[in-house]
Amino acid sequence: MAGLERTLVIVKPDGVQRGLVGEIVGRLERRGLKIVAMQMRVIQRSLAEQHYAEHTGKAFYEALVSYIGSGPSVTLVLEGPAAIAVTRSTVGKTNPGEATPGTIRGDFGLVVGRNLIHASDSPDSAAREVELFFGTGALVEYERDIDRWVLES
Ligand code: RTP
Ligand code: MG
Repeated sequence: MAGLERTLVIVKPDGVQRGLVGEIVGRLERRGLKIVAMQMRVIQRSLAEQHYAEHTGKAFYEALVSYIGSGPSVTLVLEGPAAIAVTRSTVGKTNPGEATPGTIRGDFGLVVGRNLIHASDSPDSAAREVELFFGTGALVEYERDIDRWVLES
């Protein structure tokens, strides 16, 4: 299908600790996105540094790397048409205090340092992040029977 994309999502440690994994993943699943990889893990410092390399040196960098490794996260890869932009719009603005109600951050968060979820922001980022967290062999290819009701052929 044209425009089929994959994107990396992380339910961050605050999402896990607050018991919001099902709610957050459920919203993305109900949107129609297909889960093609999913793993709980504690993100180690070296992986966090690679993942957030673009933010090295910024004032919030140390707090960010510490936060993302402060407990288990749930990492997943979602697939669908325009999956990168669709996931970002479902997630909402970076600062939950400014995020629109109805988005994940706008419904469950208050401050930028506890914004619950990461989602890739571009095709280049998505490709890099999917490879970083899952490599090439860990994605599961399968057919979903519901897809004829979610997607146009
Ligand atoms: P993410 O990468 O986690 O999906 O978030 P994002 O694209 O919406 O925002 P980005 O600019 O990439 O920032 C990465 C994460 O850094 C933390 N942050 N803190 N204190 C601050 O001003 C500040 N700005 C960003 C947030 O946890 C943000 O998600
Ligand atoms: Mg980002």
